[in-house]
Amino acid sequence: MSGRVLVTGGAGFIGSHVAEAFLKDGWDVVVLDDLSRGHEQNIPQGARFVCADIRSAEARRLVATGKFDALNHHAAQIDVRFSVESPSVDAGINVVGLVNLLEGAGEGGVKRVVFASSGGVVYGDPEVIPTPETAPKLPVSPYGVSKLAGEYYLRAIGALRGFEGVAMRYANVFGPRQDPKSEAGVVSIFVSRLLEGRKLTVFGDGRQTRDYVFVKDVARANVLATTARLPASADFNAPAFNIATSIERNVRELAESVGQVMGQQPELEFAPPRPGELFRSALDTSKAKAVLGWAPEWTFDDGLRQLVDWFRKEAR
Ligand SMILES: NC(=O)c1ccc[n+]([C@@H]2O[C@H](COP(=O)([O-])OP(=O)(O)OC[C@H]3O[C@@H](n4cnc5c(N)ncnc54)[C@H](O)[C@@H]3O)[C@@H](O)[C@H]2O)c1
Repeated sequence: MSGRVLVTGGAGFIGSHVAEAFLKDGWDVVVLDDLSRGHEQNIPQGARFVCADIRSAEARRLVATGKFDALNHHAAQIDVRFSVESPSVDAGINVVGLVNLLEGAGEGGVKRVVFASSGGVVYGDPEVIPTPETAPKLPVSPYGVSKLAGEYYLRAIGALRGFEGVAMRYANVFGPRQDPKSEAGVVSIFVSRLLEGRKLTVFGDGRQTRDYVFVKDVARANVLATTARLPASADFNAPAFNIATSIERNVRELAESVGQVMGQQPELEFAPPRPGELFRSALDTSKAKAVLGWAPEWTFDDGLRQLVDWFRKEAR
């Protein structure tokens, strides 16, 4: 099935791959982005572009009048540290901006809204690894709270205004077009530093683990989540899916893999651990497999090769 979809944040890293995946699947795609972090050249050919802030009346009107079957929401303030410094600005974009679009979706008869949440932050420091969707939600940063609040608004406004909401709880996404200046992009940071012949900075002892999922797998999951039959359940976690690999990789192993793929021996420099950083993180993906028919197809090394190729050819 295909139709007409609005992809917010489609000039950014993940959203541009999502827009591309929808186009490949035969969808009519409109991208909404204010270019505060994204770049117009990331928007795939074939998508129409509207430059606006998700908090604006213009954005809400676009969702309400654009005859969209689906809204795919990736525009956000994504910096955890910024959310700690300015929680109200974070909430303004990530909560109020989302609610503005959800009101538009209700007015416009949108049937499904897919929302980019974060499995790296909504569970806080989880006891069970790989973490299932049903684990307690104890976000420690304002960014994590804004993502979890977004999921609740999605459920509540969807039920009130007649659309289905799906929350995609991503692990650490990596791949081409990820900004090496963003704090979330440790893979991009390592690749760009090695290309510049610089040392790789490791915070703490480098034994902390993350679950790295390739962006093209994430994009495919979004297309599937737009049309999949959802479980008929009132449970909060029923329409939420971890999008990850369930594989834990520590920072030292990550540095080694990057070095191997780039044919270079990385030199590490150690810095004090960052306050509030999670020690371990990996997500259970069995539900995405059972309900969406999704499982990651890219190996870490193949994804890494794509990222390195992109840096060598195209990175600004
Ligand atoms: N990168 C990850 O590992 C990861 C993990 C979990 C969740 N997410 C979520 O996925 C989504 C996309 O993240 P990304 O890594 O691609 O980030 P990104 O910064 O590359 O993309 C976000 C896009 O949103 C746009 N944007 C920001 N504020 C806006 C506003 N007020 N109005 C309109 N557009 C605005 C930016 O210009 C940018 O193009 C975000 O919601 C993020 O929270 C990302």
